[in-house]
Amino acid sequence: MRILITGGRGQLGRELQQVLSSETALPLGHRELDVTDGAAIRQAIGRFGPDVVIHAAACTDTLGCEADPEMALRVNGEGTRQVALACRQADAALLYVSTNEVFAGDKGEPYLESDQPNPINAYGRSKLAGERYVQATLGRFYIVRSAWLYAAGGDNFPAKVLRAADREGSLRLVTDEVASPTWARDLAQAIAQLIAQAAYGVYHLTSAGACSRYQWAERVLALAGRADVPLQPITQAEHGAPYRKPPYSELANQAAAALGIVIRPWQEALQEYFLTAPTLAGR
Ligand SMILES: NC(=O)c1ccc[n+]([C@@H]2O[C@H](COP(=O)([O-])OP(=O)(O)OC[C@H]3O[C@@H](n4cnc5c(N)ncnc54)[C@H](OP(=O)(O)O)[C@@H]3O)[C@@H](O)[C@H]2O)c1
Repeated sequence: MRILITGGRGQLGRELQQVLSSETALPLGHRELDVTDGAAIRQAIGRFGPDVVIHAAACTDTLGCEADPEMALRVNGEGTRQVALACRQADAALLYVSTNEVFAGDKGEPYLESDQPNPINAYGRSKLAGERYVQATLGRFYIVRSAWLYAAGGDNFPAKVLRAADREGSLRLVTDEVASPTWARDLAQAIAQLIAQAAYGVYHLTSAGACSRYQWAERVLALAGRADVPLQPITQAEHGAPYRKPPYSELANQAAAALGIVIRPWQEALQEYFLTAPTLAGR
């Protein structure tokens, strides 16, 4: 298969390169392909002639999106529309990576693929705009919603927790934001299984299980041998961030499970991540 990957230098993009090494894959980083440049996208996709485009590029900075919602929509919404249009022109299928943050997080139980999105922050709204453009533009698409990605070399939650522990000696973590930490390597493997099947549609692909930010940090510190670091539970309101996060956005991975694609529990993945990349996991 010929596979073009946008966001090829990001956490997921790098893991996809590893997992898809037996295919003909072209990962393009931000500098090689800016997804806000429609002409450049059409040229890159037209020239390579992919069977599938995996669109992993996005502005993932929640704070930056909240501060500049127009920028968020330009990159995550309009950028995705341009990628979808170029796929239509080149007759390529598109896999768009979306997020748990398209949901409000007030359902009280895991979200199904068929549940109505209702984002509560600018990042979520921009990613949902991307979903809508994909659905309106293409017949052959996969929308894959994931959550709380981490991978070696990324400035992700485990890395931030360990840095903050070194710097401050104690941490305050929210208990009222619950989702599923997902190793980007596991997601990349699931995506590889998915694109091998022409089963287009909306998928939830996260690690099994869910936890709060507090519980995730607790596990990270234990695996890093820093269980001595004192943790204080706080609420999002006490944390005082200028954006809201879905309080409970575990995703039920039903559609993928029906195809035999299942991701292991988040605790197992996190443990292997620390065993395989101990020096990269934190600082
Ligand atoms: N990270 C998460 O927790 C999470 C959770 C659920 C879903 N997702 C989704 O999963 C996908 C991959 O996430 P990730 O964790 O791999 O994110 P990431 O590490 O931030 O990678 C995203 C990449 O997109 C690039 N990018 C940003 N703006 C761009 C533009 N205008 N044109 C081209 N590239 C651009 C970034 O490059 P620069 O850094 O150079 O700008 C970065 O390398 C994203 O679509 C994200 O929305 C992420």
